[in-house]
Amino acid sequence: MTNDELIDLEIKLLMEGVYQVYGYDFRDYSEASLRRRLTQWLSGSGLATLSLAQSQLLRDRALFNTLLRGITVNVSDMFRDPAFFKALREQVVPHLQTYPFVKIWHAGCASGEEAYSMAILLLEEGLKGRFRIYATDINEEVLRKAQEGIYPLQEMQRFTRNYQQAGGRCSFSDYYTARYDHAILNAQLRENIVFAAHNLAVDADFGEMNLILCRNVMIYFKQPLKERVLGLFDNSLAPGGFLCLGTKESLDNREISGRYEAITQRMQIYRKKYAKK
Ligand SMILES: C[S@@+](CC[C@H](N)C(=O)[O-])C[C@H]1O[C@@H](n2cnc3c(N)ncnc32)[C@H](O)[C@@H]1O
Repeated sequence: MTNDELIDLEIKLLMEGVYQVYGYDFRDYSEASLRRRLTQWLSGSGLATLSLAQSQLLRDRALFNTLLRGITVNVSDMFRDPAFFKALREQVVPHLQTYPFVKIWHAGCASGEEAYSMAILLLEEGLKGRFRIYATDINEEVLRKAQEGIYPLQEMQRFTRNYQQAGGRCSFSDYYTARYDHAILNAQLRENIVFAAHNLAVDADFGEMNLILCRNVMIYFKQPLKERVLGLFDNSLAPGGFLCLGTKESLDNREISGRYEAITQRMQIYRKKYAKK
């Protein structure tokens, strides 16, 4: 067996152990990305091989938490891909405005920027009091950050630029208060957001959503896990509901693709068709 094959075997055994002990299922994450992240974690751990790390990882929850942080990529941004949020504002929100109440699921919300961007957008488009956002992630540490809604002040310049490019109607500074080197988002934005732990690899679907966003999450998954997750979304979306994926993800050649139509050429925004009578 070559050294590379040995490392692949170690990763497979470790991921099986992690699943059995902690219930986190990374067995269907893409090998290349897992390998990169685990190698990085190992080099900072002081341990020589994953086999040596395994026995400690399966017994020491705190050590496992550091691995969890290393495996999940949590980068996010306010109004990430502004053109996407502009398309959402122009092509999806007019439909949402006709509903009495709108339910939205951000799956893999990381530290919350995407969910807060959505809250800002919906408030500006007149949906105050008529929406609830469910923002979920596997990583409870980033969820705590999301719940706080406090971000480094130095990021506000980029957030502001994204907000303007996404068609923002006010001034982004209306939405936060600067304190020392941090920006605290207005509590009003959090009022309609429920942050919760949810693991797309093992947990169940949510009922009757009108809009689901899962951007830059499935790129780390292998095909069977992608199909599982898309099945979850399909079960969770009401007919006529919208599904938004990241720029590098699409519904092409997916089991559920026949039940959806793409509503933009470049952005990955799909609408679930109404069942034929
Ligand atoms: C790169 S971030 C994307 C954040 C945001 N959606 C965006 O596009 O800016 C990916 C997030 O997916 C989460 N994630 C990874 N595997 C997951 C799983 N099985 N279930 C739920 N969330 C998961 C990670 O913890 C991470 O916060």
